[in-house]
Amino acid sequence: MTCVEACGESQVVFVEAAAVGAGVARPAVRGTLHAVVTPDGRVHFPVLALEPARSRDAILRRLFGRIGEKFFVEPPFRCDYGSNIAVGENFYANYDCVVLDCAVVTIGDNVLFGPGVHIYTAGHPAHPEPRNAGIEYAMPVTIGNNVWLGGGVIVTPGVTIGENAVIGAGSVVTRDVPPSAIAAGNPCRALRTITDEDRKFYFRRLPFEEPSR
Ligand SMILES: CC(C)(COP(=O)(O)OP(=O)(O)OC[C@H]1O[C@@H](n2cnc3c(N)ncnc32)[C@H](O)[C@@H]1OP(=O)(O)O)[C@@H](O)C(=O)NCCC(=O)NCCS
Repeated sequence: MTCVEACGESQVVFVEAAAVGAGVARPAVRGTLHAVVTPDGRVHFPVLALEPARSRDAILRRLFGRIGEKFFVEPPFRCDYGSNIAVGENFYANYDCVVLDCAVVTIGDNVLFGPGVHIYTAGHPAHPEPRNAGIEYAMPVTIGNNVWLGGGVIVTPGVTIGENAVIGAGSVVTRDVPPSAIAAGNPCRALRTITDEDRKFYFRRLPFEEPSR
């Protein structure tokens, strides 16, 4: 089913999302297309680079399966469906975020994405025969509350990142990350646990200023 809705100053075209089961091997056919028609008649897919912020927010509210009251997604933002993305309160994503939401992507409250974060739920079989036959699968990705993903982080299918974790810039996250871990690298591994001691510092051992009396 296709529908056209007004979102801020633009019109948005939605085509109903196909039901996608996690882990189901299926032909790699996209069930959903959506486009944005700007007031000057241009039609484009939801890269959202050219929309004024107010229109972008309206489009994202309509596009995402769930989104909190307070959020800011810098353009350009790209996704497969949008409807499979569930986001909590107080979300911020910097430029060039890509979310391949063929399975559900769940993002908690107070989550920060640096620039160029990519979340992939989709993958293809290792063997070329089924891959060339067009089979793909999708595994959900879950990101807990208060997680910060540094710039250029890639999260691969099926990964869960525990609450309060920090993922270093450029990491490729292929396995689950425990809560409150600082994890980094390719492949991404936990480096240490964040403790109460970390409250005192804003970067390495640089302390917050004492409040002046
Ligand atoms: C992970 C991060 C937060 C630092 O955490 P930290 O606990 O203060 O870590 P340190 O800087 O003390 O580094 C600890 C070790 O981890 C390594 N490390 C830190 N960040 C890393 C990364 N992104 N990838 C690989 N290794 C990393 C350091 O090299 C160091 O190893 P060493 O002791 O062998 O030299 C920081 O390095 C980072 O990646 N920040 C993201 C910044 C960003 O993306 N900003 C964009 C705006 S959101």
